[in-house]
Amino acid sequence: MTATTRTEVAANSSARLFQDMWGIYRKVVDNNYLNHREAYAALRRLLQNQRPGFTFLDIACGDASFSAAALTGLPIGRYIGIDLSQPALNEASANIADLPCPTELRHGDFADWLTACEEPVDLAWIGLSLHHLPFERKLETMRHLRRLLGQAGTLLIYENTCRTSESRAGWMKRWDRQRNDFSAFNGLEWLLLTTHVHGMDHPETVSAWRELGHRSGFDHMREHYCSSSGLFRLFSFSA
Ligand SMILES: C[S@@+](CC[C@H](N)C(=O)[O-])C[C@H]1O[C@@H](n2cnc3c(N)ncnc32)[C@H](O)[C@@H]1O
Repeated sequence: MTATTRTEVAANSSARLFQDMWGIYRKVVDNNYLNHREAYAALRRLLQNQRPGFTFLDIACGDASFSAAALTGLPIGRYIGIDLSQPALNEASANIADLPCPTELRHGDFADWLTACEEPVDLAWIGLSLHHLPFERKLETMRHLRRLLGQAGTLLIYENTCRTSESRAGWMKRWDRQRNDFSAFNGLEWLLLTTHVHGMDHPETVSAWRELGHRSGFDHMREHYCSSSGLFRLFSFSA
């Protein structure tokens, strides 16, 4: 399949997913089931160390609501968001409107966009999206990010993470055990969400995330936050 065809297929399925699933995802976020509040508070603490005028690349930004809140009041110089879903970008456009800097929203597959991108950035953020890719495609994406971030930039990710030696199936069992925690969800909503997670998510162990970092050219990886479920962790990667 050519890159263009892959992008088109991904864009169509993601747009459908966004329309079908966005209400469910909003409910996940509003109930803080994936610890968005704590993860984005950790992101904000890390952004406070950035030099004034920094460029922020928000990969798979969705509606950018939490990113925009995390950036509020910080001396950002430029915001770039990319997502496959046009409805998500329409919402993002309103959510980033008050950022005190030039902003750009790009519609497309981040993997394809990064391949062609030559613009340096200071900070790249991926919130709950890199795990859709299998290991080798995560590596490809992180290598492109290393190129754009250069020696001084930082990659931050909040992503699905297995316990030491835990398999994907083991992670999925832990996911499934959360059913009672998602108390605002009816049976159908839980089924739709869980079917999506089982079909699309490829978590990595901490050591696999470290290997991805090293093989992409990042010498340092640090963990900054682990969700209350233990299913998601926030890491930084720098040269
Ligand atoms: C789980 S949401 C995460 C949104 C937001 N970053 C957050 O932290 O809540 C995943 C987002 O990734 C987008 N997405 C998934 N695969 C993508 C790809 N290959 N390129 C661009 N966006 C993608 C979806 O459209 C969706 O908006």
